Amino acid sequence: MLFDTHTHLNDEYFTDDLQAFLDRARRAGVELMNIIGFDVPSSKLAVEQARDREGIYAVIGIHPHDADSWNREAEAEFRRLLAADEAGKIVAIGEIGLDYHFDDSLPKPVQKQAFREQMLLACEFDLPFVVHDRDAHQDCLEVIQEVAAEGKLRAEPGVFHCYSGSLEFAQRLLALGFYLGFDGPVTFKNGKKPLAVASAIPLERLLLETDCPYLAPEPYRGRRNEPAYLPYIAERLAEARGLSTDELAAATTANALRLFKPEPAN
Ligand code: NI
Repeated sequence: MLFDTHTHLNDEYFTDDLQAFLDRARRAGVELMNIIGFDVPSSKLAVEQARDREGIYAVIGIHPHDADSWNREAEAEFRRLLAADEAGKIVAIGEIGLDYHFDDSLPKPVQKQAFREQMLLACEFDLPFVVHDRDAHQDCLEVIQEVAAEGKLRAEPGVFHCYSGSLEFAQRLLALGFYLGFDGPVTFKNGKKPLAVASAIPLERLLLETDCPYLAPEPYRGRRNEPAYLPYIAERLAEARGLSTDELAAATTANALRLFKPEPAN
């Protein structure tokens, strides 16, 4: 059984035909999925989609691309969603973080404030958080270390999703208790760097994710991604680590259950 810990099934590509994509995922052995928000509407949709669906969980947060929509109103909305979540369907805050990749990225102070305040919200509700870090490794670590210095970071604070840094940087995150998520790029010809990191870190800190509809693994590279393609990522990582796919699946699913602590299926 596989856990796709990072999907955007709240993307309009999926919403009309959600059940068909879930059925395909289950037939491929992917029975557990997190739906990750990227702004307020997509976070609310994730919560709605997870409701009454076994094995489907929601993660709410504002992506660095939309960091300027993080304000008191957004925070109040997230607090309302968390307070109303009696079934325990909201398993984390995210995706939050810093993205300096694009020339038109939002100003760094705006991104840092949204990251920091949403991280504090996660800590307040004793939830992990899902970090989007693109070309911003050092600044991400600094914001996290500030919160850690205030004594607010959990022992297992969250996951660096679609990990793209060096092994050395990974060691610093592991020391802080983070998990690292790996996606389609580990199957790419030019994906040797993330594959090397995914092979070298302790198996107990490894998570699988598709980031669908983005980043489809080989042999679907360049097409729309979906949770049913997660086994291609699992197979590649199992091969690289010298494990059977079943062993890798069991370990990474156990990791995800330990970090996200979803309520038992209703
Ligand atoms: Ni994502």
